[in-house]
Amino acid sequence: MSKSGHQIAILPGDGIGLEVTAEAEKVLRTVAEHCGDQFNLKHGLVGGVAMDATGKALPEATLALCRASDAVLLGAVGSPKYDDPRAAVRPEQALLGLRKELRLFANLRPVRLHPSLAEASPLRTELVRDIDLIIVRELTGGIYFGAPRLEGSERAVDTMVYTRAEVQRITHVAFRIAGGRQRTLRGRPVPAKVTSVDKANVLACSRLWRLTVEAVAEEYPDVELEHLLVDAATMHLIKRPADFDVILTSNMFGDILSDETSVLAGSMGLLPSASMAKGRFGLYEPIHGSAPDIAGRGIANPLAAILSAAMLLRHSLGMEAEAQAVEAAVAAVLDAGHRTADIAAPDQPAVTTARMGDLVVEAFTQDTTQMRCR
Ligand code: IPM
Ligand code: MG
Repeated sequence: MSKSGHQIAILPGDGIGLEVTAEAEKVLRTVAEHCGDQFNLKHGLVGGVAMDATGKALPEATLALCRASDAVLLGAVGSPKYDDPRAAVRPEQALLGLRKELRLFANLRPVRLHPSLAEASPLRTELVRDIDLIIVRELTGGIYFGAPRLEGSERAVDTMVYTRAEVQRITHVAFRIAGGRQRTLRGRPVPAKVTSVDKANVLACSRLWRLTVEAVAEEYPDVELEHLLVDAATMHLIKRPADFDVILTSNMFGDILSDETSVLAGSMGLLPSASMAKGRFGLYEPIHGSAPDIAGRGIANPLAAILSAAMLLRHSLGMEAEAQAVEAAVAAVLDAGHRTADIAAPDQPAVTTARMGDLVVEAFTQDTTQMRCR
């Protein structure tokens, strides 16, 4: 039985973006086939490759393609060719442009540790074993979208603004996620918690943030709320990462904290992200960058892109069972000991990007004969 079609925009972008999105596409096509769904995957240009072709990091045609889609899967942007800090056009502008134009105000970055990769974390296994947190980062406000001004070579200005409405809507996202997660710690259920991170001892925006978060929290009596100052948060994340559940924070602090947490989990190559608008529309991307040093060699880890595709199934297409099946397939492949070069032990043979994608497809196909599709 064929179901209504879904439009998915694929923006591979730069460097390894091309290789990893190709594997995520394989997985999406397998899911569609398995469930009798129609996925219409259309490609667009973004980042350095778009600058090469059109002079713009985010061409109009790409934006139009995204607007006509139910969801967007992005690889990575950034290229050494365009790294000059004086340049007027930079590949990264595409990301900021997509966030603003598509109103992607809620950035979700789940961080979980796959048990067999605990050794890859820079922290001791007993500290990181139970990490299972999600960063909810405000993505279209704050200092990222102020009024930047470079005044000659002597002075520069950035501005930071937050409105109560902006803080309210991201806070609701965080509390809803916390309420629905049913997290367990060492096998036992733990109460849902939101940790709001700010700098309320210094910044006015953070004081508004804190007051607003407290007011919204009253609507969620089953979710615990704690506040941490951002400097303390960076420390607690290293000392007791498994205590965190949902971390709610602003654009800039979320950028910084999500790099810190990603490294705790052992490999950047494994972590997906979602950037959501109101409703179901979202853009999904691995949190790793374009890694130009290894691009084109077929050795990049496609699992973060594949797990991003799983988030796309879950959040934009409402296909929870299928999303879980993809996540289970990734876990099965890791359990079976398959590793790309970034996570392989020094004496272990690594599989290629394409082989890793095939392995996930095989595991998905074997495991889902009993699965009920949406
Ligand atoms: C991220 C990236 C971006 C950001 C850059 C590339 C603009 O670091 O998605 O975390 O700062 O938001
Ligand atoms: Mg970042």
